[in-house]
Amino acid sequence: MAVGIFDSGLGGLTVLDATQKRLPDVDFLYFGDNAHAPYGVRTADDIFNLTQTAIHRLWEDGVDLTILACNTASAAALRRIQEGGLPPGKRVLGVFVPLIEALTERNWGDNSPPREVAVQHVALFATPATVASRAFQRELAFRAIGVDVEAQACGGVVDAIEEGDMILAEALVRSHVDALWRKMPKPQAAVLGCTHYPLMADVFQDALGPDVKVFSQANLVAESLADYLRRHPGMTGQGQSGFLTTGNPRKVSDRATQFLRRRIEFRAA
Ligand code: DGL
Repeated sequence: MAVGIFDSGLGGLTVLDATQKRLPDVDFLYFGDNAHAPYGVRTADDIFNLTQTAIHRLWEDGVDLTILACNTASAAALRRIQEGGLPPGKRVLGVFVPLIEALTERNWGDNSPPREVAVQHVALFATPATVASRAFQRELAFRAIGVDVEAQACGGVVDAIEEGDMILAEALVRSHVDALWRKMPKPQAAVLGCTHYPLMADVFQDALGPDVKVFSQANLVAESLADYLRRHPGMTGQGQSGFLTTGNPRKVSDRATQFLRRRIEFRAA
C-alpha cells in the first residue's frame, strides 16, 4: 500500500525525496495540485476544498496514509479534515508537528506541558495563508514558553519556483529576509515553513548568515514517518513511486526532474 504525499505543487517533492531515501522499501504516490498552485494566496475554505479533492483522489488509488507535505494545507485544512471524520482505516497527517518538536527539543508525541527551550527568537518564513492561520504559533505554544516568533509571509516565492524562475525566487527570498531583519534583528533560528523553500535553502542560509540555524522540514518529516511506520507496521512495499498532477504532466515532469536531478514522470490525476 503506497503512502500518499500531497502538495499544492512541486514543494512536496522535497519531502518525498527525503522520505524515499529514509524508507527505500516503502511505495509512494505523489499528488501535486499544480493547476491550483499557489495555495498560499487562497482562502481557508478554498484550500480545504482543494485538499479534500486531492485526498479523495489518492484514496481512489488505495492510499490509506496521506502526508500533507504542504504547510498551507496543514495549517488551513488539516484540523477541519480530521474533525470532519475520516473513513475507517484512512489517516491524514501534517508536516508542522515534526518541525516544532525539533525546534522545541522534543521526542515524537511528547505531550508534556510547555517549557522553556534553547531558542527564544524564531523567524518563520511561510506562505501568506500559513502566516495568517497562526497555526505555527498555536502548535508552538503547546510545547514551549517564552519563544518570540516573527512571521514573514513570502509572497511570490512559490509562484516563481513553480514557474522554474529561480532568479526571481532568489531575489524574492533575499527581499523577504531583509523584511524579516527589519522586524527581528537577531533571530536565533529560522523555520522554512513551506515545503517549496528547501529548494532555496542555500539562499535562505546565505541571506540569514551562518549564526542562524535554519530548520527545514524534509528530513524531519522523513524521520517522523519512519517512526510512525515502526509503530504501524505493514506498509512495506517494493520502493516504487507514482506521480499524479492536475497540471500539465510534461511541464510538471520536466520541472520535477530539474529539482530532484532524476527523471520523474507525472501522469494526469
Ligand atoms: N508547499 C506549500 C507549503 O508548504 C506551498 C503552498 C502554496 O502553494 O502556496 O505551504
